[in-house]
Amino acid sequence: MKQTKRWNVLHKNKLDNEKAIQEAALLLRSGELVAFPTETVYGLGADATNEAAVAKIFQAKGRPQDNPLIVHVANKNQLLPLIKELTPIAHQLIDTFSPGPITYILSSRGVCAQNVTAGLPTIAVRIPNHKVALQLLETSNIPLAAPSANISGKPSPTTADHVYIDLQGKIAGLIDGGATDVGMESTVIDLTKERPVILRPGAITKEMIENELNIRVEVAPEQDKTSQPLSPGMKYPHYAPDVPLLLGPSSAEALQQLIEIYKAKGKRVGILAREQLLAKVTAEYKVSLGKTLEDVGKKLYDALRSFKRDDVDMIICETFPQTGLGQAIMNRLQKAAATSNVLQEDKDF
Ligand code: TXA
Ligand code: MG
Repeated sequence: MKQTKRWNVLHKNKLDNEKAIQEAALLLRSGELVAFPTETVYGLGADATNEAAVAKIFQAKGRPQDNPLIVHVANKNQLLPLIKELTPIAHQLIDTFSPGPITYILSSRGVCAQNVTAGLPTIAVRIPNHKVALQLLETSNIPLAAPSANISGKPSPTTADHVYIDLQGKIAGLIDGGATDVGMESTVIDLTKERPVILRPGAITKEMIENELNIRVEVAPEQDKTSQPLSPGMKYPHYAPDVPLLLGPSSAEALQQLIEIYKAKGKRVGILAREQLLAKVTAEYKVSLGKTLEDVGKKLYDALRSFKRDDVDMIICETFPQTGLGQAIMNRLQKAAATSNVLQEDKDF
């Protein structure tokens, strides 16, 4: 096991921060893994042009080899050499939403290592909107392949501590830039088809994209494990908390009834909801998701990670409307509920 070097770039000293970025960039250029903050979640970075470096990502995360990675770049100039052509729609979306929490699937020019794209003719590219991420991309001057910096299947990391708990000793470096702002992974939009298709909803919502393009945009349906997935990541378990998760009603009365049912079965029930709802129900263990949908996005993964089997037997989470940011939140919650580790073992659920 190697030592993971950890830098904190939150303190005031600009020179120290620059030194940290330089050290991290050097490690990346020499083929090592460095986790870094973005505005969505922490990413686990490697030189996207170095196959051996990229292979280390799959190993550290325990990620299936056929699930391709997002390549991060600092700006449009770094993006262009990676793709065959920038279509008018890609051009428009990049100008409007990037840097930002959105990833574009475009035709690949084959510049990146084969294992980045899992052999696909397409490539996922994103310009993150985070000072530290952008500085790292500029200083290293290489495109960085970076999936979320968690062990595969667990909730994505929104703090450096989450990364440390999952990957300590398995990666060369970790830049601590504080809690991430958005809290959920970027919107993934496929621009290689006749019409744009959202493969993963995120903070750049379907409505925002439709307003910008003035056309209807589809959200790809969730897929089962047997069919050929549009996005390879869609078929794998995600975001599983340690404790089974159930999506409950959003009215206080119905939620309280459900709590009582499980209490009567001897279950210690934890509730995950916004403050407005949380205040109206009685339960042994409550975790707040804040007030707004933005708060929910920001707090969700940390909240999911906070439930431990020592404290509760199950989590019931509020259900959110499937529009705007609610679509991304519900997408993550449904996956977390479907893949809870012990869910299938427990006949009561
Ligand atoms: O916000 C984010 O996107 C974060 C931060 C670190 O940037 N990254 C992230 O990466 O969430 P990851 O690897 O956890 O998710 C990438 C998703 C996966 O579902 C993958 O299957 C999909 O993008 N993907 C990557 N390349 C693709 C391609 N060529 N075609 C279709 N889907 C692709
Ligand atoms: Mg991920």
